[in-house]
Amino acid sequence: MSLPKTSIHGEWSSRLAFILAATGSAVGLGNIWKFPYMTGEYGGGAFVIVYLLCIALIGLPIMMAEVMLGKRGRSSPINTMQALAQETGRSQIWQLLGWSGVIAGFLILSFYSVIAGWALAYVPRLASGMFTVVSDLPTANAVADFVDTQFNALVGDPLRLLAWHTAFIIVTITMVAGGVQGGLERAVRWMMPALFILLLVLVGYAMSTPKFMDGVHFMFNIDFDKLLYSKGEFRYDGILAAMGQAFFSLSLGMGSIMVYGAYLPKQASIAQTTTAVVVADTLVAILAGLIIFPIVFSNGLQPDAGVGLVFKTLPIAFGQMPFGSFFGTVFFVLLALAAWSSAISLIEPAVAWLVETGKFTRLSATIGCGLAAWLVGLATVFSFNIWSDIKPLSQFASFEDKTLFDLIDYLTTNIMLPLGGLFIAIFVAWIMKRQIVSDEFKSSPNRLGFQVWYFLLRYLTPLGIGLVFLNTIGVFS
Ligand code: TRP
Repeated sequence: MSLPKTSIHGEWSSRLAFILAATGSAVGLGNIWKFPYMTGEYGGGAFVIVYLLCIALIGLPIMMAEVMLGKRGRSSPINTMQALAQETGRSQIWQLLGWSGVIAGFLILSFYSVIAGWALAYVPRLASGMFTVVSDLPTANAVADFVDTQFNALVGDPLRLLAWHTAFIIVTITMVAGGVQGGLERAVRWMMPALFILLLVLVGYAMSTPKFMDGVHFMFNIDFDKLLYSKGEFRYDGILAAMGQAFFSLSLGMGSIMVYGAYLPKQASIAQTTTAVVVADTLVAILAGLIIFPIVFSNGLQPDAGVGLVFKTLPIAFGQMPFGSFFGTVFFVLLALAAWSSAISLIEPAVAWLVETGKFTRLSATIGCGLAAWLVGLATVFSFNIWSDIKPLSQFASFEDKTLFDLIDYLTTNIMLPLGGLFIAIFVAWIMKRQIVSDEFKSSPNRLGFQVWYFLLRYLTPLGIGLVFLNTIGVFS
């Protein structure tokens, strides 16, 4: 069997278009919503440093591997894995990697869409000037109470959450149905730069708050005890959480980046494009932290406030700064757009596969996938209200107070993505012929770079992932 030379789904119009799309996939709620609250929950600097190490030593090599696989296979991750396994004379079982990615994609999209719905819900809230009252409130406590109450009123209302979740999925379906150039590419061209500029404006605001340096200190002061202990008790999962976050933020381990690689023009360099994506993604996460933690400390909030952290801090900033209602509205619109450009990459692997079977049009495939994710998403919608007491794994101490949403998040981010990444690394560096891999990097001028990457992917990356897993199940303690 010969590999297809081009993808039947089309191609990016240029290398830059791929960078924008992959950055669009990577930059999203993971950077602005998840990274700050995870950093807050796991005590700051030590979490950040482990995260950055995982980005550099595990994330970057795996992203290059994923793009390479896609670029060679030119089809959905399921068919790419099948074709490449066949090419090297290996078992069809490698297809499972594609399948697990499709499942992880659905599960992630199911909660991603609900949280993105929160961002949508905050758009009219900011536009109406609801948060301008915070500057008149007498004490920091009153401010904290106000934003807390507003957030709880939203997540406590299943119908409102459902409506926003539904709206988010419908727009996602519309964008994905538009196809590679018409839908995906057009959307990300302008929204990434706009989001970035707005983040810089907010960093400016954060620098004007009294506790800016406390925020910086929290993020960069490395204290491993804070990562490894919570309220005096040892916790195994801090390092795993940082690694999972690296996978989540870079969109790795489930085929998003692989399928985008399949649409990459043949001559584009893999190394340069992926490095650009990784740098942009990391920068946005760090900026988000530099915005949020100074606001946390300047207003007497707690960094470990959990999933609502961003929604309880940024409105304070917008309530106090000049033209805050305007900036706030624009910010939440851009956050929703960034979420869309990520969401589309979560179902693209499944949609591409359905289209390749020849039984579905792009439109019907997209509607089917969107509907499925919407349905699973109900579990997350209700996790914050009517099902908030359902803790399916409460008999296990480490999962004691995890809701359905928490469990889906944990299963995908901390287990499925790193495992997917592990097998991608093994496949590329141990199963595929080195010559074939090296051929795909022909357009990269830097041979030393290739050797370093190959070495990392062969030894350090799988070893790193393995050690983190072993650490989590308590082997080293
Ligand atoms: N990376 C995106 C974010 O940070 C989310 C995302 C898109 C993703 N595609 C993915 C996460 C694939 C894991 C796997 O918001």
